[in-house]
Amino acid sequence: MFDILEMAPPDAILGLTEAFKSDSNPDKVNLSVGVYKDAAGGTPILECVKASERQILESEESKTYVNPNSGTPQYTQAVRALLFGKDHDLVDGGRAITAHTPGGTGALRVAGDYLHLLHGGATLWLSNPTWANHAGVFKAAGMQTNTYPYFDATSNVITVEKMIDKIKTIPSGDVVLLHGCCHNPTGADLTLQQWTTVAETLKARQLVPLIDFAYQGFAVGIEEDAAGLRIVCELCPEVMICSSFSKNFGLYNERVGALTVVAESSATAAKVLSHIKRCIRTNYSNPPAHGSAIVSTVLGDCQLRQQWIQEVEQMRNRINTTRQQFADSLTNAGVNLSNQGNAFITEQNGMFSFSGLSKDQVGALRERYAVYVVGDGRINVAGLTEANIPFVSNAIAQVVGA
Ligand code: LMR
Repeated sequence: MFDILEMAPPDAILGLTEAFKSDSNPDKVNLSVGVYKDAAGGTPILECVKASERQILESEESKTYVNPNSGTPQYTQAVRALLFGKDHDLVDGGRAITAHTPGGTGALRVAGDYLHLLHGGATLWLSNPTWANHAGVFKAAGMQTNTYPYFDATSNVITVEKMIDKIKTIPSGDVVLLHGCCHNPTGADLTLQQWTTVAETLKARQLVPLIDFAYQGFAVGIEEDAAGLRIVCELCPEVMICSSFSKNFGLYNERVGALTVVAESSATAAKVLSHIKRCIRTNYSNPPAHGSAIVSTVLGDCQLRQQWIQEVEQMRNRINTTRQQFADSLTNAGVNLSNQGNAFITEQNGMFSFSGLSKDQVGALRERYAVYVVGDGRINVAGLTEANIPFVSNAIAQVVGA
């Protein structure tokens, strides 16, 4: 059974961190996995998280299963309030149901299992490019995947006309994955006008949008970053949303996320939830409780919530300052990563910069300088610090021959 196996290829993102850990170069820099680092290069626990954990430690009375296995009302309501805005009709349930999942990836997988179970013929359409793990997650759930054009890497712009033209050809009943904000890997987001056009096209074609929402608060702000998703939910009768709290709560290893489904009626939503609970039960049975307790404690407490908003703002501001420093440093090192210079780095949203570096250049960065970047050229700007920016810029200058 096991003898015949070849080694599986390393994961396009996580495999790089494994390689980084065993790299003995003292100057090594990990700009691969999407993890926020502070100015000192650490990934600290947010203060609001620490405070909520102290409260949980004092008040927690049991480690019994989360019941229902789709999550507690405190958590699922808090998730919907973040998505739709606290006074929105969808927050109290009815047409929208939410299932607590292990991380955003867990939400994507439960969505894939649900779609495969009940709509086995549906294809999932992904932006080109997209997160390196998207296709794998949906294929593992048994779904077919395909792509729509999204981004022109030479001019660093979203190819929205091509995207719409493609969507117009997708058969009704298929599912189209959109990135809620901070598109991974390009950092290039739709304008609100473009969101409206995309949502109208999806509605006209009777396509179901599935919004991957892993970076709320990292582009402009908590409310602002949900604006595109809210447009889609106004216009389209059925929507699926996968939330992650890995980045905006820094809860990477607690695995806390959620799948929210907006249906046409509350009766339909209740049926959807019953099937989602079945998908959860036959996969991992119950979600892990600790991360969701942190999120619902922080969001349910005025002071902690305010502190969280400020801490997300601090992370966002640091990333934006770092973007500017990185762009300036590249320019000083004589590097122009696009034919328009390096300004695009400051215009992209979220943690990532889609640098335009080729696969060979990415390979040379790793082999010659121990600078780890994802194979498609995606750089985690949040991994740069004042201390390592000059080294990274010079390494890039060497590999691009500037
Ligand atoms: C990333 O894109 O680097 C993150 O979402 C982490 C991951 O699991 O790949």
